[in-house]
Amino acid sequence: MMVSSGELGWECPSNIALVKYWGKYPGQIPANPSLSLTLSSCVSRTQIAYRESDQGSMEFLFEGEPKPEFAHKIQGYLDSLHADLPWLTRVHLQIESHNTFPHSSGIASSASAMGALALGLASMDRAFRGVESGDGLSDSAFWAQASDLARRGSGSACRSIYGGYTVWGAHPAVPGSDDRRAVPLDMEAVHPSFHNLQDAVLLVDRGSKSVSSSAGHGLMNGHPYAQARFAQGAERVAQLWTLLQDGGEASWRAFMDLVESEALTLHAMMLASTPSYLLMKPSTLALLEEIRRFRNQSGVPVFFTLDAGANVHLLFPESASAQAMELIDKQLTPYLHEGSYLCDRLGSGPTPWTRTPHTS
Ligand code: PMV
Repeated sequence: MMVSSGELGWECPSNIALVKYWGKYPGQIPANPSLSLTLSSCVSRTQIAYRESDQGSMEFLFEGEPKPEFAHKIQGYLDSLHADLPWLTRVHLQIESHNTFPHSSGIASSASAMGALALGLASMDRAFRGVESGDGLSDSAFWAQASDLARRGSGSACRSIYGGYTVWGAHPAVPGSDDRRAVPLDMEAVHPSFHNLQDAVLLVDRGSKSVSSSAGHGLMNGHPYAQARFAQGAERVAQLWTLLQDGGEASWRAFMDLVESEALTLHAMMLASTPSYLLMKPSTLALLEEIRRFRNQSGVPVFFTLDAGANVHLLFPESASAQAMELIDKQLTPYLHEGSYLCDRLGSGPTPWTRTPHTS
């Protein structure tokens, strides 16, 4: 069934991996499973207006302006989906996207942007197949399709389709887990002390990365430590999932150690790649040392993770917010680019979004 025109929008958060995905197989299949937390306020809002057309075509605006390099990437992505979404060859799409967080801020905008776009495509697919849109939101098949579509745009984006903690990649410890899409971890099984994890993104560097994530994934092919790393990633998904369910003091300590080791292991892979490369800056290392020193001296549960970049994600439970803010203001600010950081927290996942005159 063909619907002649329509408009829809999605708001989708970014996510940060606690167990990292680093290395992949053709078809955007991860070399090891990963586990992430979905953020709350760092989101992309994407509006799609569609109408019937003789051929598939697309216009794209980012923050209200044409952005040819993003448009080119999206066009390639849409072209790659023709076998799954054949109606794409018969519609004109007008896509407009906005982020609530600055570009190159250490928050993965590809995850939120591709997540929002994939949700839009999954909603349109429902419309074109004549499925009532209201049914979609309570239908696990809808979210699974959106996650699969998001994965093909940017691997880690598939985890942004669900709130809370998610796992992407088949793993025996996580029922229903799959290499082609993420699954949410059961928040009822997650210990309440992990329900309100906070993430302050400490901005060290606002420049773009010297080596892209795609190039970094590529360097895991033939990497001398690749097989050991992939096995470790899988093992750590199971370990972290067990710790998330326990939440006792010893589990919290083990959780923090494991998350920090994951971040350092990701960067260790980069240091040991051929060619080798370095995304951390001197201030990154200074921050990691300050965070560990503060934790060891005060016993306050603050810990870090890193993405593929120089910025540092400072993680802590809500109960440690006052001490964490004091740590940032008194000890960490000198290492930050213009003293800047972003505050976010564990979120509940994407929501439909309608543009209003005030938010456009
Ligand atoms: O989704 P990609 O291809 O941008 O890769 C993301 C890789 C990391 O952010 C470094 C780790 C992860 O699991 O998100």
